[in-house]
Amino acid sequence: YPINKPREQDWSFAGPFGKYDKGQLQRGLKVYTEVCAACHSMNLVAFRTLEDLGYSEAQVKAFAANYEVQDGPNADGEMFTRKAVASDYFPSPFPNHEAAAAANNGAAPPDFSLIAKARGITRGFPQFVFDIFTQYQEGGPDYIYSLLTGYQDPPEGVEVAEGTHYNPYFANSATLAMANPLSDDQVTYDDGSPQTVDQYAHDVSAFLMWAAEPHLEARKRTGFMVMVFLMIFTGLIYLTKKSVYANKE
Ligand code: HEM
Repeated sequence: YPINKPREQDWSFAGPFGKYDKGQLQRGLKVYTEVCAACHSMNLVAFRTLEDLGYSEAQVKAFAANYEVQDGPNADGEMFTRKAVASDYFPSPFPNHEAAAAANNGAAPPDFSLIAKARGITRGFPQFVFDIFTQYQEGGPDYIYSLLTGYQDPPEGVEVAEGTHYNPYFANSATLAMANPLSDDQVTYDDGSPQTVDQYAHDVSAFLMWAAEPHLEARKRTGFMVMVFLMIFTGLIYLTKKSVYANKE
């Protein structure tokens, strides 16, 4: 099977001064909760962090209350379920890995907490040497976007096994256990953005980048300050060198 390279997209968070677009992250959260969360967990992301997306504490509490989580054991040694609170994490839709795999033709849907980072990277020698110079952080969202918009009819002569779906952007082969999850008008947006597969795929990919890297903006700010510091420091070192060796010609 041919495996296509992800199609590179323009992301608001790309580049040294990139920033997340909060409206886009909110739409992406909606796509995740209404579509992807039926199969994909995100168990390293706490509800409280949704305040980053521009929601108030009260909104986050109300959002968390839609979920039930496992807790316990209580004083009688029993596990119980309760309504989620802001400090809980997005729960898994399946009780365990085996159940997740059994419901999906043997392939468990991967957890989403770090998927945007896990999928930007090609592995293997000598590819990884090459990757050091060519890796770009938007590789993950580019990949997720390309996968979601990459379902197509298999070319003539290609057999697609029962329960799998043809998609030449899938990193492992050209068929995967996930059926095309998105269709136009599936999720209702209240900010007037187009309700198309293309827009959903962009929004949910940006959201997953935020989930994997919530401190991206702070990291870039720090990086910029470090570069400014290094430039000033280089100048000072140069002047020091000149002064120390001034009479040593
Ligand atoms: C795999 C995204 C909805 C079931 C994946 C992968 C991504 C992804 C990025 C990993 C592909 C890889 O390993 O390289 C999404 C997004 C969704 C969504 C963004 C929502 C828009 C769903 C739904 C289901 C599902 C609703 C179940 C009905 C699966 C399964 C796999 C998978 C079973 C494993 C495929 C395999 O390894 O063959 N998904 N997914 N996904 N997803 Fe989804």
